Amino acid sequence: MAKSAATRIDELRARIRHHEERYYVLHDPEITDTEFDRLLKQLEALEREHPSLVTTDSPTQRVGGRPVEGFETVAHAAPLLSLDNAYDEDELRAFDERVRRGLRDAEGGGASDATPAYVAELKVDGLSIALTYDDGLLRRGVTRGDGTHGEDVTSNVRAIRAIPLGLAVPVAGTVEVRGEIYLPRPAFARVNRDREERDEPLFQNPRNAAAGTMRTLDPALVAARGLGAYVYQVVEAQEAGTGPGGGHHETLGALKAWGLPVEPHWQRCGDIDGVLAFCRDWAERRQTLEFEIDGVVVKVDGSSQRARLGATAKFPRWAIAFKFPPEQATTRLERIEVNVGRTGAVTPYAVLEPVRLGGSTIARATLHNAEEIARKDLRAGDIVVVEKGGDVIPKIVEAIVSRRPKGKRVRRFRMPERCPQCDSLLVRPEDEVVWRCVNASCPAMLRRRLLHFASRRAMNIEGFGESLVEQLVEIELVKDFADLYALDAPALVALALRAERDF
Ligand code: IVH
Repeated sequence: MAKSAATRIDELRARIRHHEERYYVLHDPEITDTEFDRLLKQLEALEREHPSLVTTDSPTQRVGGRPVEGFETVAHAAPLLSLDNAYDEDELRAFDERVRRGLRDAEGGGASDATPAYVAELKVDGLSIALTYDDGLLRRGVTRGDGTHGEDVTSNVRAIRAIPLGLAVPVAGTVEVRGEIYLPRPAFARVNRDREERDEPLFQNPRNAAAGTMRTLDPALVAARGLGAYVYQVVEAQEAGTGPGGGHHETLGALKAWGLPVEPHWQRCGDIDGVLAFCRDWAERRQTLEFEIDGVVVKVDGSSQRARLGATAKFPRWAIAFKFPPEQATTRLERIEVNVGRTGAVTPYAVLEPVRLGGSTIARATLHNAEEIARKDLRAGDIVVVEKGGDVIPKIVEAIVSRRPKGKRVRRFRMPERCPQCDSLLVRPEDEVVWRCVNASCPAMLRRRLLHFASRRAMNIEGFGESLVEQLVEIELVKDFADLYALDAPALVALALRAERDF
């Protein structure tokens, strides 16, 4: 007998949810994007045929009809506390001492009860979110805001495929879970590539990109960005049915069983030495993850121990964030060069003696503008501290002035007066910090603009890449960008072919 439409819809939804998890939670897809879209289209078609079977937790219902007008400010049921920080191993040991002392001093604490076990979790570098499920259905998503009030960003939260619209098992009543929304590294790179093509300012790091995305009023854009999410907490008094005396590790297990995304690398540690080993390990391995972490969150496992320790006005006494040092290295600043962009902006950059930093070798660092170079007093030959963090391009933190050779005068950097490519005089518009080349035939600018013109977002001309552009400019087939406005794509392709033939 043919399956009923309801059964086919149920099966499709389960398959889609499975693949959403594979892609957006585990970062390990089993099917291609096209195959995923095909499943979604099948479900959409079935739901169109049977509108009475559409439910609010169907994966087709993630993005609503039109962009929202704004976000409402709402009060949190319980404040979202922040975490105390530890910056080195001694500070982590001091935390352990405080916890033990706190447990010994607290009323009713027996000797064996004063030995805490910990759960160590990765500290995902994103923005916190509070999610409310009513009878298993996602009702609301609220940002942290100032900790007591946040913004109701439900429409955007629904667009995040890592977050289930409905829990996998029946959970009666209201539960609030908390976690972190983040942008995976590959999605961050893609977003910035697109922004570069559109000449829009780049996001500094994945955290800023995630926060910027959640502030947009267009859930379709949120869906397209590919945000991820992990939850790590059930709000007090609802401890996932583990009851008093249960452990945080059981809460994490329950959250996972509910179908919520839980970062899988957490570990229960019998003592602080185990925690320290976990921190050391992840400080080394952080680059292997699909997303950025800025440390490890260490939490007392036992819920009755947590209750005994309590909280200060700002943070719980049972948890601490072990912050990784930013990824830094020292190297020699060989020289400062300038680059001419598509809009003619002339920006300086540092040429470095190649150095290993955060899993790759870097030889360039961004310098933004002449003011920054002057402020940091950077000079050719200096030993400099470079930092990667989550930024797109490494940056120079400072010059180690004490390592500057004594007695040897090194000139300060001066912005060139003429374009390094076409020798025309640079100008600086009154309200800007950047210098610009305004020669429409400047070959550097022309190359960039040609590349942009042919790029995916503009004319989308396949095969029209860097080497072809190089040839077109070199043999002066395109001398002025104004020429291009008169051409259509087929004419450009013909031009490209001619260039190829001539070589
Ligand atoms: S627990 C009361 N666990 O770090 C305890 N926070 O610097 C609440 N964060 O505001 C936080 N990963 O946004 C916790 N595994 C994790 C986390 C985590 C990232 C964020 C969270 C918090 C901030 C504190």
